[in-house]
Amino acid sequence: MRKKVALIGGGQIGQILAMLTSMKELGDVVILDMPAFENPVKGKALDLAEMAPHGNYDSRIIGTSDYKDIEGADVVIVTAGKPREAGMTREDLLDINTKVIADVAKGVRQHAPRAFCIIITNPLDAMVYVFHKVSGFPKQQVVGMAGTLDTARWRAFIAMELGVSVADVAGTVLGGHGPDMVPLPRLTTVGGVPLAEIATKEQIDRLVTRTREAGTEIVKLFGKGSAFFSPAWSAIVMAESYLKDKRRVLACAAMCEGEYGVQGLFIGVPALISAKGVEKIFEIQLTEEEKAQLSKTVEGVKKTVSECRISPAEPLP
Ligand code: LAC
Repeated sequence: MRKKVALIGGGQIGQILAMLTSMKELGDVVILDMPAFENPVKGKALDLAEMAPHGNYDSRIIGTSDYKDIEGADVVIVTAGKPREAGMTREDLLDINTKVIADVAKGVRQHAPRAFCIIITNPLDAMVYVFHKVSGFPKQQVVGMAGTLDTARWRAFIAMELGVSVADVAGTVLGGHGPDMVPLPRLTTVGGVPLAEIATKEQIDRLVTRTREAGTEIVKLFGKGSAFFSPAWSAIVMAESYLKDKRRVLACAAMCEGEYGVQGLFIGVPALISAKGVEKIFEIQLTEEEKAQLSKTVEGVKKTVSECRISPAEPLP
């Protein structure tokens, strides 16, 4: 039987997700948006269906504003909510997007209760927490897309700086999806060669800073809205690992219950994504300096999560 991928939000990232899901034939695609955007998402679905003969895929693609259409989805990817504009932090979106994500979580709980759910909406670490709380889904079933993107940016910048293939750069980025995230140069390699042996300290410091600010760099260039190609691809890699049981180990915002000394928060950590969802979190032995950096980002996420309210009078469940 065909798999089904439901995309909640048919904006910039949602439409790229629809294209990649179809082109990779991960399953049939449902693009869901608010009634005001029903026609645009129907149009995008039709446009993608008309691309199929040349794109060489058989995915069925529909646009809708009715949650009933996501019934039976295997994967749900959530981009609904407001994106950043120049000058805004991800946290500036907290109030408006908490409400959006709470509504989405209720719709998904009612109509696709078995779906593996990947959250992209910002502020990411808090939004995945809200989705998990409101949906009541098991922790394995809910994950945030951030570390996969942050790691892709880290790898891309290293490849650009050193003039090497991005395919040979391996590494990871821990922590929250914000300026305190923790790229790990000590554990990054280029074709097996430790980064510190082929890049200077100045280069590495610059790469760390650029990675931490990468989302903002793009927001500044756009003026309105944030990145969409790389966030979409990152979520697709996670969805594919689940759907095909590829067992990729990817940096994801996963629920930590004791791992890295973090209790009851979604934080970017290396996680094994299999047909069971987030099957396992890998713990890395960190240096004291890395631990201090991680603890700073965890405190930031904790503060943001503590400020989440569905409405001024309604705290999270
Ligand atoms: C970014 C947004 C998607 O980092 O959070 O570009």
